[in-house]
Amino acid sequence: MTSFALPHPTSMGAESVAAIAVSGLSVSYNEVTALTDVDLIVARARICGLIGVNGSGKSTLFKCLMGLVQPQAGTVAIFGTDHRTARRSNLVAYVPQSEDVDWTFPLSVGDVVLMGRYGRMPQSRRASRADRDAVDEALERVGLSQQRHRQIGELSGGQKKRAFVARSIAQDAQLLLLDEPFAGVDKTSEATLIGLLQELRDEGRTALISTHDLAGIPELCDEAVLLHNRVLAHGLPEAVLTHDKLALAFGPTPGAAPANVPLRRTADEK
Ligand SMILES: Nc1ncnc2c1ncn2[C@@H]1O[C@H](COP(=O)(O)OP(=O)(O)OP(=O)(O)O)[C@@H](O)[C@H]1O
Ligand SMILES: [Mg+2]
Repeated sequence: MTSFALPHPTSMGAESVAAIAVSGLSVSYNEVTALTDVDLIVARARICGLIGVNGSGKSTLFKCLMGLVQPQAGTVAIFGTDHRTARRSNLVAYVPQSEDVDWTFPLSVGDVVLMGRYGRMPQSRRASRADRDAVDEALERVGLSQQRHRQIGELSGGQKKRAFVARSIAQDAQLLLLDEPFAGVDKTSEATLIGLLQELRDEGRTALISTHDLAGIPELCDEAVLLHNRVLAHGLPEAVLTHDKLALAFGPTPGAAPANVPLRRTADEK
């Protein structure tokens, strides 16, 4: 297997290299426009929340970052490199939205987490001691050690999410792309996941996380992006979760914004 001598982001001597740099990104699926002229810079060691209504283009953005969807226009860079190199260098890990995963695949939880190590293994895919240790540690960190021999499809929705997060941890990726990791996750597991993601951020990793739980954004995220096929707002959570900005994305009626959103009015809006 080819090994890439890409420097680790923290050894690039360039704290300024953005974890994510998206410029002028436009994606359409035939007649349907998913993204229009999206620009987005996320610095390393940040948790960035991605919010927007169904169909606003969140999953499409993740897929472009992973090179799974080809944009009609624009560029994406991950730590200054293209998605192919970033993936081969294990810089980026992706937890897809549940709907995009075939859960009938005959893999155990341990197998799924071990997949995070594939990029580091020889072609024989024989797991080394280090690989096995990484899987053990990742399962431990998400609280799934007891479930490692179960078929992935047998797990509950929340446990499946945690298994995929464990795969990202085992991969030791610098950028985590998590598409709705809290969907179907109970409050206890959500708190565990949030604590874990913040630990990973404190270790210098970056996460882009889509969520419909707007109320949880200020606790979880350092910054937030409001998407509606284009970027409507990007900044500190309190600057993005304002009444007017949410109304732009979710509609003007009070009931359109999800309940319990800690709405703030900026000086301009008062
Ligand atoms: N494979 C596809 N073929 C055709 N249209 C697609 C495809 N994938 C997404 N779309 C369309 O692109 C738009 C953006 O979809 P996307 O899945 O990126 O939204 P999303 O913000 O992730 O939504 P959700 O919150 O429901 O997950 C939608 O209008 C959707 O119908
Ligand atoms: Mg989606």
